[in-house]
Amino acid sequence: MITDVIKIFRELDSKDLRILQGIEVGMKHYEWVPVEELMKITKLPYSTLEYKIRALKKKNLVVVTGTPYEGYQIYFDAYDALALNTFVKRGTISAIGDEIGVGKESVVLEAVKEPELGFGEPQGVIIKFHREGRTSFKRVKRVRCHLEDKEHFSWIYAARLAAKREAEIMRKLYPDISVPRLIDNNRHALVMEVAEGSLLCKTRLEDPAWFLDCIIDQLNKIYQKGIIHSDLSEYNIFVYDGGVQIIDWPQYVGTDHPHADELLERDVLNLLKHFKRKYCLARDPGEVIDAIKAPEES
Ligand SMILES: Nc1ncnc2c1ncn2[C@@H]1O[C@H](COP(=O)(O)OP(=O)(O)O)[C@@H](O)[C@H]1O
Ligand SMILES: [Mg+2]
Repeated sequence: MITDVIKIFRELDSKDLRILQGIEVGMKHYEWVPVEELMKITKLPYSTLEYKIRALKKKNLVVVTGTPYEGYQIYFDAYDALALNTFVKRGTISAIGDEIGVGKESVVLEAVKEPELGFGEPQGVIIKFHREGRTSFKRVKRVRCHLEDKEHFSWIYAARLAAKREAEIMRKLYPDISVPRLIDNNRHALVMEVAEGSLLCKTRLEDPAWFLDCIIDQLNKIYQKGIIHSDLSEYNIFVYDGGVQIIDWPQYVGTDHPHADELLERDVLNLLKHFKRKYCLARDPGEVIDAIKAPEES
């Protein structure tokens, strides 16, 4: 549970963070970071490491092995704490709120950002922690074509890469495309603005045809930028009075991708299925795809 992590995070001191960070660095080269290596990285004596690690293990932030040598690993809870620590230090966030969504491959929390230069009101924001490597790494590798082969492939690498990819595309699309503004990215985590309105899947629209056109118009603009979302559904679209916002981008592909047409078709079929089922609103998929691919009117 993420709320536990936040409680634990408040109890961590600078040496604890140094140790977690040291294990993180060591895991680039070792599956289990040897104690000697950790002593070198953290510059802490064995006696300090020993009692600190015992406490971190109790909090489930460090995993310890005794064979074939004494070594350590961290897992997502510790990685979350390290990213949170960075966001707090940078002034990106000042407080953390409730969990508002657990997706297939993420945990999403509410947080608070202090106003820039101290003027104005604190702002509610979202933290999205990627969880890509949580499922078996073979599966992740199969479904995520953006994972290149790395010798020391690990969940850290998978989750961090997915977050980086999502951060890059959100920066590229904003503000021309209606996506939440990205505020910060560290490790496997993103801080972004709260999407406007509510999720399409949780909303009963009064004028569904208008919203469907609005989404198709966005998809057209996205396509003109050479991008296909490729995980589009009623769970990744927010609707509000004035329009729509599209979230959840790490699996996007370029329009030059070998399976671009299939992926676009799948997005469109998902979208049309929702509007057909919920509102009996039928559109021809071929015509919608043509509209998405059509050059934008100037
Ligand atoms: N910017 C945001 N504003 C509000 N809610 C969000 C935002 N980003 C994510 N969420 C919530 O978190 C859930 C999971 O996020 P999402 O980006 O879709 O990741 P996943 O890949 O796990 O589906 C969403 O369905 C939504 O409820
Ligand atoms: Mg999603």
